[in-house]
Amino acid sequence: MSLDLSRIRADFPILSQQIRGKDLVFLDSGASAQKPRVVIDAMIRCMEQRYANVHRGAYWLSEAATEDYEAARGAVAGFLNASDPREVIFTKNSTEAINLVAHSWGRGVLRPGQAVLISELEHHANIIPWQMLRDAHGIELRVARATDAGELDIEDVAAKLADGKAGLVAITHMSNVLGTVTPAERLVAMAHAAGARILFDGSQAAVHRRVDMQALGADFYAFTGHKLYGPTGIGVLWARLEHQERMPPFLGGGDMISSVTFERSEWAPPPAKFEAGTPAIVEAVGLHAAIDYVSALGMAAIETHERDLVDHAMRRLTDIEGLSLLGRAQDRGGVFAFTLDNAHAHDLATLLDRAGIAVRAGRHCAEPLHTRFGVEGGTVRASFGLYTTQGEIDFLAEALVKAREFFA
Ligand code: ALA
Repeated sequence: MSLDLSRIRADFPILSQQIRGKDLVFLDSGASAQKPRVVIDAMIRCMEQRYANVHRGAYWLSEAATEDYEAARGAVAGFLNASDPREVIFTKNSTEAINLVAHSWGRGVLRPGQAVLISELEHHANIIPWQMLRDAHGIELRVARATDAGELDIEDVAAKLADGKAGLVAITHMSNVLGTVTPAERLVAMAHAAGARILFDGSQAAVHRRVDMQALGADFYAFTGHKLYGPTGIGVLWARLEHQERMPPFLGGGDMISSVTFERSEWAPPPAKFEAGTPAIVEAVGLHAAIDYVSALGMAAIETHERDLVDHAMRRLTDIEGLSLLGRAQDRGGVFAFTLDNAHAHDLATLLDRAGIAVRAGRHCAEPLHTRFGVEGGTVRASFGLYTTQGEIDFLAEALVKAREFFA
């Protein structure tokens, strides 16, 4: 089944805008994706007709809002093929989801002297929480190498797991800079064989392909709503219940307790134990609508469309003289970071913006990765969404050819 791109693009009100008098060519979906009308409408409907605080009120509106909030949890569980909706913890974003694992499971379960294995491909959100844990809790932080092609060096992963000291492997499922998709099933098997648990940062991957928690067999999986065509302010930590049982709460407050006295308090059962305070109710409703939207299109159809975009971008971008792509992974998604001879990344992005093309410039919250590839000054990154067309990639390629002449 292929996607009807003109119908899809009409679903996203922002895409019909002109920017600086030019048609918008939005190639920054890796940073945050645009929102379809159904998401916007669902959030408006929530606020206009079904809004109150959740899990608290004994009145109709609060019950309706609670129903909608918990239905969103069910939708996420279905999207991930989780075996139980209680495996879904709502967080603010992927960053908070990973921090929750580091601060709660990391401190509660990992013992000083054990190691956490990350990789050179990671976003800062999957580096800094482990550095903080290392400094506060005495764990060792190990970093698996990336190959020159931008793939995860599996032999290095094996070597760094060999002594059995790793308690956790925390790896991206898809690099936000190189587009590399890591061999998730193989990593799960390797981690478990070495006695370690495994967390995936699925911020990019969950948007581009079907992820199935029961098939994958991981321990933790983090993703965020705003890259999945949903709102900002809501993310997900999928965590096996057995791990949640062993995790102390991360934030204390209302809704995460079953009883409170000044002497001691009892925690609510998971996942409520990790959702202190009023949660992101409207955002959960928006995320539910986004999941319904991508599910109706079909994750398989989205993946096929994006594979075609990747092949097309490979052909068009590798043709441009003076343009160097970072990473040539075999299995990759629609994220391309590159440099152009004589052009600073920010200058190039500014020039592209004048043509109506929105791309990200800099180090994309992945400074060690840029150091690894010797591009300290940063790169320009074009990242695709389900609404991206081959025509937009052609337009980018043509603008890059003109930019090369300009900077020469
Ligand atoms: N993590 C987002 C990105 O890669 C913000 O751009």
